[in-house]
Amino acid sequence: MYYSKTQYIQPNRPSSLKQTIKYPGPLDYRADFSVLAYFQAFTINSPNFIVTLTAYLCRNQQATMAVTDKIVARLIKAGKVYKTGDTTITALEATTVDLKAGELTLIIGPSGSGKTTLLSLFGCVIYPSYGEVWIDGLKVNDQQEKKLAKIRLEKIGFVFQKFNLIAPLTALENVMMPLQLQGIKTKEAVKRATDALVKVGMGDRLKNLANDLSGGQQQRVAIARALVTNPEMILCDEPTASLDIKSVAVVMNELRQLAKLGKAVAVVTHDTRLRPFADRTIYVMDGSVTDTPVEEEIPLH
Ligand SMILES: Nc1ncnc2c1ncn2[C@@H]1O[C@H](COP(=O)(O)OP(=O)(O)O)[C@@H](O)[C@H]1O
Ligand SMILES: [Mg+2]
Repeated sequence: MYYSKTQYIQPNRPSSLKQTIKYPGPLDYRADFSVLAYFQAFTINSPNFIVTLTAYLCRNQQATMAVTDKIVARLIKAGKVYKTGDTTITALEATTVDLKAGELTLIIGPSGSGKTTLLSLFGCVIYPSYGEVWIDGLKVNDQQEKKLAKIRLEKIGFVFQKFNLIAPLTALENVMMPLQLQGIKTKEAVKRATDALVKVGMGDRLKNLANDLSGGQQQRVAIARALVTNPEMILCDEPTASLDIKSVAVVMNELRQLAKLGKAVAVVTHDTRLRPFADRTIYVMDGSVTDTPVEEEIPLH
């Protein structure tokens, strides 16, 4: 039986494997999950073997990286122009950029620079005015609205600044929502939503109403909601902007953890303090994207 990488990291997949993996030292283990999943294809379930294999993979990082470098989303000279009356605003100039599995990409730029537009293109929320958007091998330009809604539901998890939880519902019910939209039966949805909430450290708050939770806790529930469908990509628009400094670290570490488990995670922010959490940082300035820090951040010598 073959377990794909995504199946392997499904939150509800009972796996003794996860508990048995002991990493021998500090390392970037993003790569190893996919390779381990691949080896599982041969139904090797012995914990000892897995530990040995992990140690082997650690020494052979190069070989493993090829497996993780999967491009989940790609913009090819894609951009967006808005026309209102006589005025034309170039929200995003032609941009070529990828989001990769296993990577937390930080998208930094000042207000109005085009960050949300960039994220909305990756999120299949808007069509590009020019260029191409590809999600998991599918060209978004050619798809109907209805198909885009399906892609969003199945392949993408969204996290917003204002959490966007449904107030009269409990944490558990909020997280069950995307599963119910997918037509998954209640019993299964409860199990998967519970697992997702446990994963973000909210397992003891299942029955709390959204409004009874602190900002940091609400955002963790929102992250659980984003990951419960096991999407390949998690897109976050200013997820820490409404949080106190302690919650910022908690939330960013949760997102980092998801990237380490193989998701492509993109975080839009205007806060340069989030850079230490990122595997890669790209900068947006006046609608144009670069991997060079914006001017005011370049240290003066
Ligand atoms: N739906 C829209 N209609 C018209 N202009 C828009 C629309 N969305 C964004 N813009 C404009 O595009 C530019 C970039 O916006 P946005 O991507 O939201 O920036 P950011 O998220 O970095 O603050 C801004 O000038 C904004 O006013
Ligand atoms: Mg924005």
